[in-house]
Amino acid sequence: MALYRIRHAERLRGELEIHTAKNAVLPILCAGLLTREPLRIEGVPHLTDVDTLWAILQDCGAQICREGDALTLFTPEPVSPVEEDLLSRMRASVLVMGPLLARTGYARVGLPGGCAIGQRPIDLHLKGMQALGAESTLTPGSVTLQGTLRGGSVYLDFPSVGATENILLAAVLAQGVTRIENAAKEPEIVDLCALLSRMGAKIRGCGTSTLYIEGVRELHGCVYRPIPDRIEAGTLCCAVGMTQGSVFLRNIRPDHMRAVLYKLREAGMDFRESQAGLRISGRAKNPIQVRTLTYPGFPTDMQAPMMALALCSRGASVFCETIFENRFMHARELARLGARIRIEDRIALVEGGYPLQGAAVTSTDLRGGAALMLAGLLAQGETLLSDPHGHIARGYENLPGMLRELGADIEEATEDGWSSANG
Ligand code: EPZ
Repeated sequence: MALYRIRHAERLRGELEIHTAKNAVLPILCAGLLTREPLRIEGVPHLTDVDTLWAILQDCGAQICREGDALTLFTPEPVSPVEEDLLSRMRASVLVMGPLLARTGYARVGLPGGCAIGQRPIDLHLKGMQALGAESTLTPGSVTLQGTLRGGSVYLDFPSVGATENILLAAVLAQGVTRIENAAKEPEIVDLCALLSRMGAKIRGCGTSTLYIEGVRELHGCVYRPIPDRIEAGTLCCAVGMTQGSVFLRNIRPDHMRAVLYKLREAGMDFRESQAGLRISGRAKNPIQVRTLTYPGFPTDMQAPMMALALCSRGASVFCETIFENRFMHARELARLGARIRIEDRIALVEGGYPLQGAAVTSTDLRGGAALMLAGLLAQGETLLSDPHGHIARGYENLPGMLRELGADIEEATEDGWSSANG
């Protein structure tokens, strides 16, 4: 449970370093199940999703320790997790399936809970495992897979990020060559391929829709630093555009954010890239049209923060959410601040430029919660954002603290009252 008190802010200014990407770190940590040798992942952010996965990986037999911002892990004897509730707590836990099958020929995993944004099935994950020779048995709440993995071909009906990652994590130790058609191309997939290759895997086609993996007998340990978080960076860019600020972001990959940066420019913002990072400045003033797509299209994880930004722009902005079936829940909470948003199925029409007034709102999911925090900066007066499930801390390492460093007035409720300590 978290409770934030957010006051109106103008002209956020300063410099920040972007953390490594949650959605790269999670599958990369699961690769720790593939080797007996120490795998050292540097720059691991302090997120509750990392803590949850840590517990699950330990339950799978991994030995893990943290030294500062690095996690070192290896797995002498992998076993299927028994703590099913852990698996239902976080969808990314389904990614232990591929490595466990690859190492032991057996995996029994809890069916990951759907979540607020959609039912989030794992049919494509199972299709991939079956293509590699595994047999799956569904029981209420869990799925069991077994079989000695051999190379195979699979076509993904949808370029699923998680299914691509799971099949990669299985195929690297399968006997023979695997081909994944219509694979996801997100930067996080390319990062996982880079990590696996450094561990000794043989992968071709990284970053394209067709991946070829030649299985090897074993993978060795290595040291690796995952890519920066393009969604954290995009979220902060939206905060700048909502307050007419000027901020310099270090440890950023603008090449991973083209769709977002072009949309911010269309909204009226300026940005300048340099070797050291990205300078983002200006105020959102133009309405925008956003359609979420798989990479390199506009990322669905940026839909909610971008909707908060659109509240600044005078005129009608249109959002089309093509990836998840229920990812507009933040809209009704934004409306409590006075936002004028109409939802028709997967289309949201946002009439921006109207003044917002602080109110009590509730976080609906990870990115929706971030959007509400940003909207609290725009609203006049004080916004109380309650986050009963701790969504924001799942995916952002201290988002309120980062915004405070830029001048925002955000306090967090503690047992001793309101705190704005950047602990
Ligand atoms: C990853 O989720 C990310 N999570 C999500 O980020 C992100 O929104 C999503 O990719 C899309 O980019 C992590 O990387 C941990 P998908 P994932 O499989 O792998 C359907 C965040 O906010 N689908 O690409 O679950 C599914 O229902 C999170 O950081 C199937 O139908 O996404 C959805 O409609 C939220 N069958 C669509 O594909 C399957 O077997 C996209 O899912 C798998 C997916």
